[in-house]
Amino acid sequence: MRVDAGLAAVQFSNPGNVGEAELPNFIGRSASFACGAVARVSLHVDDAQRIVDAKFKVAGCTVLVAALSVLTERVKNATTAEAAALAEDLETIERGLGPEVAGRGDCVLLASEALLEAIRAYSDSARDHWDGDDALICTCFGVSERTIENEIQTKHLDTIAAVTRACNAGAGCRSCYPLIEDILEEVNRKS
Ligand code: FES
Repeated sequence: MRVDAGLAAVQFSNPGNVGEAELPNFIGRSASFACGAVARVSLHVDDAQRIVDAKFKVAGCTVLVAALSVLTERVKNATTAEAAALAEDLETIERGLGPEVAGRGDCVLLASEALLEAIRAYSDSARDHWDGDDALICTCFGVSERTIENEIQTKHLDTIAAVTRACNAGAGCRSCYPLIEDILEEVNRKS
């Protein structure tokens, strides 16, 4: 993820994307017990899994506000899988925001968690409403239960990381982790 210095400066002095996404259909929240900050991200995700709009509300410090502003701007028009990858790239977000965030990784993490929660809400919903023949496990990358079972059986996989390397399942928002774990247990118990 690339965050240019000009954009970062704007996020500190005049953050964009404050408020509620147009026609929001997924919400994510995060909170810090340490400092009391709370963040809320709303997304409008279309039928093609693309984020049409992203906005945030927050009660917290300027670093948290700037991080949310950058993240919500960057994920517009991204797929939810792309957005999850952006949200997890904390190092690049911090670097892009500049020296103001030195030692403030927890604030950036809080911003990332709110966005990831909203993406996970989308993934859970899409999985629940899936009506294909094979059960859909990883919404981010469209990986079915049968594909994951085949990968585990043929390649003798025993960890989620190995499954992710083999077929991409779990490489986005990670809401499918518990399901992949169950499949791993089931397949390896039988073999
Ligand atoms: S559903 Fe997002 S990584 Fe699998």
